[in-house]
Amino acid sequence: MDASDIITRTADYIRDKFLGEGSGHDWDHIRRVWQTSRAIARTLPQADLLVTELGALLHDVADWKFHAGDEEAGPRAARTWLLGLGVEESVIQRVETIIREISFKGLGVPTPMSTPEGEAVQDADRLEAIGAIGVARAFAFGGHKGRPLHDPAVPPVEHGSFESYKKNTGPTVNHFYEKLLHLRERLHTPAGRRLAEERHAFMEAFLRQFLREWDGEDVAEL
Ligand code: ADP
Ligand code: NI
Repeated sequence: MDASDIITRTADYIRDKFLGEGSGHDWDHIRRVWQTSRAIARTLPQADLLVTELGALLHDVADWKFHAGDEEAGPRAARTWLLGLGVEESVIQRVETIIREISFKGLGVPTPMSTPEGEAVQDADRLEAIGAIGVARAFAFGGHKGRPLHDPAVPPVEHGSFESYKKNTGPTVNHFYEKLLHLRERLHTPAGRRLAEERHAFMEAFLRQFLREWDGEDVAEL
């Protein structure tokens, strides 16, 4: 099977699996990560496009958040799928590495990517967590978990370990302070950083307006 068949078959598989998913890990998210990773990877002379595209398509295939915290579920599911397509071992290993390294694990936990393909995919995935889409996904995720939008009595936590981050059940606005506002500084590629500027500014404007309405400042100005 040539590279373009491998990508098409994988995209069809993931589309079928994730269509209609409701927690923000839906096919449209994966489709955008795929497109954005490809655009970023094209700016990186060392990045292999097949590895990048497969890493993007399979990055959420079995997310630890939905598999009882099992961090190997994703790499394992990707390996099984790619072996079935007859993909060569070195490509499978590089895709597994992307999936293993991609997740955010708390503000105090560094999550460097060891390959340029991984940098492209992680940047693309993190761009999905900021901006207008990121705001929508955060509240969709919080709603899915039954969390309040905001609670000024519950301060944000700086999660220093993956264990602490995993156990988090705070209101959704806290997630902006615990993760989303920090992503811009953690992007790897110049193209990713360029895309983050507008999205980050939008997210800051959203929070300003949200808290203004929450506190009734606009009403007080009537
Ligand atoms: P990553 O791909 O960096 O590991 P996640 O899979 O954790 O990201 O997140 C997927 C989406 O769900 C992101 O947009 C993220 O902001 C959102 N999300 C994750 N955890 C929370 C949370 N505790 N509250 C609100 N949104 C969340
Ligand atoms: Ni993702």
